[in-house]
This record gives sequence, structure tokens and C-alpha cells, in this order.
Amino acid sequence: MAVKFYKPENQVPLEMHKVRVVQKLSLLPVEERLRKAQEAGNNTFLLHNKDIFMDMLTDSGVNAMSDLQTAAMMQADDAYAGSESFFRFKEAVKDVFGCEYVLPAHQGRACENILAETYVKPGMVTLMNFHFTTTKAHITRVGGSVIELVKPEGVKPQSTLPFKGDFDLKRLKKTIEEYGPEKVAFVRIEAGTNLIGGQPLSLENMLAVADVCHHYGVKSVLDASLLQDNIYFMKTREAQCKYMTTKEIYHLLADKMDIIYFSARKLGFARGGAIICHNKQFFEDMVQFVPLYEGFLTYGGIDVRSIEAMTQGLYESLDMEYLCQGPEFIEYLVKECADYGVPMITPAGGLGAHIDAQAFVPNMPHDQYPAGAVAVALYIAGGIRGMERGTLSEQREPDGTERFAEMELLRLGCPRRVFTLSQIKYCADRVKWVWDNKELIGGLKWTMEPPVLRFFYGTLKEIGHWQEDLVAKFKEDFGDSL
Ligand code: F0G
Repeated sequence: MAVKFYKPENQVPLEMHKVRVVQKLSLLPVEERLRKAQEAGNNTFLLHNKDIFMDMLTDSGVNAMSDLQTAAMMQADDAYAGSESFFRFKEAVKDVFGCEYVLPAHQGRACENILAETYVKPGMVTLMNFHFTTTKAHITRVGGSVIELVKPEGVKPQSTLPFKGDFDLKRLKKTIEEYGPEKVAFVRIEAGTNLIGGQPLSLENMLAVADVCHHYGVKSVLDASLLQDNIYFMKTREAQCKYMTTKEIYHLLADKMDIIYFSARKLGFARGGAIICHNKQFFEDMVQFVPLYEGFLTYGGIDVRSIEAMTQGLYESLDMEYLCQGPEFIEYLVKECADYGVPMITPAGGLGAHIDAQAFVPNMPHDQYPAGAVAVALYIAGGIRGMERGTLSEQREPDGTERFAEMELLRLGCPRRVFTLSQIKYCADRVKWVWDNKELIGGLKWTMEPPVLRFFYGTLKEIGHWQEDLVAKFKEDFGDSL
């Protein structure tokens, strides 16, 4: 909390910036929202942005840029090779992380593609606190597999553990010994663990994982896409970090990890991504894939203006007055909902607020996609677009059977510096209404299921008439309010 209010009961998260560019929103009438949901195959990815009031699909590529970022974009040095913009970015990486070597790539998954191509061979395993969708897809595509080693509390919906993303260190060591270090392509440490609710790892745990990797001679790879939220939590929840500067934490991590990569759609409030390291050998291992898949080494498939925005954004990722904006608003939203009885993932993490959809509609079977169903219900109720992070987001087993997610989550992403507190309050209010009408919510079934990353563009149909019933109840409760 950057600013303390005089009356404790007045305390709310306070925007430490002002809004100087606005974008008009539209909130469609509820019958229209129903029609749009059904036209989109009940998949919130397929809604059009113009039909959405609060876009809480993700925090990726939709964070608000600062005045300094947009100003920096004006000095973009367009060149196929040798752009000054790239060298400014390289300087920022050196300053913020201390790393010498930089491989630009157009976004996070492009980094994952390069890492998988370089280091994962058929039959190898990759160990991680938890998988991310695109990471796993790239690793399995080249014949590797993923083993998750998050502490058991990590997948417990409600907990008081401050660092639910922490590795189970005993299992990490045991697994490396079981497979043998030569079979482990790398250990991936995902900051701000996405699929379990944006849950952070402690600095202590991250450093201990890196030590285990060094001990066994296994590569450590930090996915720093959600590191800025994670650093906020280290500073506010971990005693040893309280008096460290954010830059000291970035440097300490970078000194310990072999390789770091990130999506600048999250870290850096921009677009783009990069793989960075201290070690020339790792750079040389991977460098061939940048011109092959991305673009020349001084733009890596990223628009030059975005490289400038990313550079400035990296410096802003050091500033606690910016870093606090995501986690404080998310915590407020989680508390509003949880106090009302809505099952939320606790403690609040980064990225967004996460509803435990399994507990929201406990009688709905996994194969009717509870988190997907609650996501559609919330769009119909309030024009709010969240993202299913449950069984729909999983990939089927190689034999075609459904792999049920460990957690059925509806994620309400909070893009950084975008929403005001009254919008967050509106969201909490509509979540409460859906919660009070949860018995109306029914399931979904596939009408078109793609073979890879199916959640992005697959379509589903509602089972029965529950959506029309929900609209009727909305009209009863809200009259002609939007
Ligand atoms: N790693 C993490 C932890 C992520 O959250 C993401 C993206 C990626 C890698 C891939 O980066 O999108 O730039 O290719 N997460 C987005 C999300 C898609 O909505 O959570 P990308």
C-alpha cells in the first residue's frame, strides 16, 4: 500500500497515475450479450472487443502504456539490421537484469519455441513448478514431457500460504535423481505461476531451485513473464526482500539463473519478448533460431516501436508505484467477492482474480466445463469477459481421453493501469449476482474441437436453455438497466 488513508474504513487501492487517453466502452443490453455469447460459440476468446464492457480475458498486451513509453515509440529507429532501438533495449536489459546477451523474439511463446527446439530432445523431461499452456505445447511438440513440482498447497484453492507457486524442493531433487540429470532438458521456474492463480514463489525458493540445478548440472530457466507481480509479493510478503531494491532482486535472480525469458506483453507493459542470459554458450546454442523463426537479431520479429516501449517498460518494472497497481486492485476484487462467499483462489495473486469454478457450480461434471460455463454466465450478466483456465484449457491425453484440470478456474485478468476502482467494483457486483443465481448455470459441449490449443478457437454449445433463464432472471432483478 503506497498511501495510507486517514480513516482506515476509507482505505482502497489508489491509482498512482492519471488517465490522459481514454477509450469509450459499450455495454450492450443483456439480450444482445446472450446473442453475442452464443454467436461466439460460448468461447470468450471468440467475442468481439466492441461487444465487451470489461475485457478481463488477460493482462497480456493490454496493459496501459505510460506517457514515457508512447514518447519513446516516436524515436523508433527503423532498420532491418543494427537498429539503435535494439541497442537501447539491450542496455535496459543490462541495467535491469545485469545480463549481457539478448535474443529478441516476438512474444513469450516464441521464446519457448526456441528453448524447446534447442534443448528438448525426444524422451527428455522438463521440470517446472507448473506448466503454462504454450510452454507445454512447445515441449510436447518436440517429443519432451512436463513434470509439475509445485508444493501441494499450490493447487489448494484456499490457503494462507504466501508463496503458493513454490517448488517442492524434495520432489525436485528426487525427480532429477530418478530420471538422471542428462534426461532433464531444463528446470523451468515460472514466476507468478499463471494457471494456479498468478501465485508467486519466494525469492528463497527460487534461489534454492537454482542451487539444486547447479548441484546436478541441470539448466535453470526462469520464465519472468509475470515477474513484476512476483517481485511485488516478495517485497510485501518476504522479510528478506523488504529492504532490498527491486533492482537488487532482479539482479540476484539473473545472477543465479542460467537463462531467463519473458513475454513483454506482461513484463514491460508492451509487446514483444526476449531470452536473456549471462553465458555466451547459451546464447550461441539458441541464436540460430532467431533469424529462422523471428527476424534478424536486432528486431526478432518485434515492431521497432514496441522495442522502444519495451525498453521504457522494463525500467517501469522496477518502480513499486507501478508494480503495486496490479496486485492491489486484484486483492481488492478478490476480497470483495470472497467476503460475499464467492469461492476465490486465495491468497490473491498477480495477473487477475481467480474464481474457483468447481466450487461455484459443484455439481457440474468436468466434461461440461464448469469454468467455461461460469465465464459465459458472467459475460451475459455484465459484459465482462474472463478466461476459462480449467479443463477446456488442457490438452487431451495422447490416447484422446480428456485430461481433467487440477483446478477449474475462471480468471478475471486485471490489465495493469487500465481499470479504475469503480469498474472493479462493478465487476465484483456482477460476480455476486452470478453467484446468487448459480443454480441456473448449466454446462457446455463441443461443437468444434481443434486438436491443438483447443481453447483458443474451439466452439461449444450450451446444454439446455440455461442461458435464456439467466437473461430472464437478470431482467427480473435489474429491470431495463444495461
Ligand atoms: N509464460 C507465461 C507465464 C505466460 O503467462 C504467458 C502468456 C507466456 C509464457 C506466453 O507469452 O503470450 O507472449 O506468447 N500468457 C498469456 C495469458 C497468454 O493470457 O496468460 P506470450
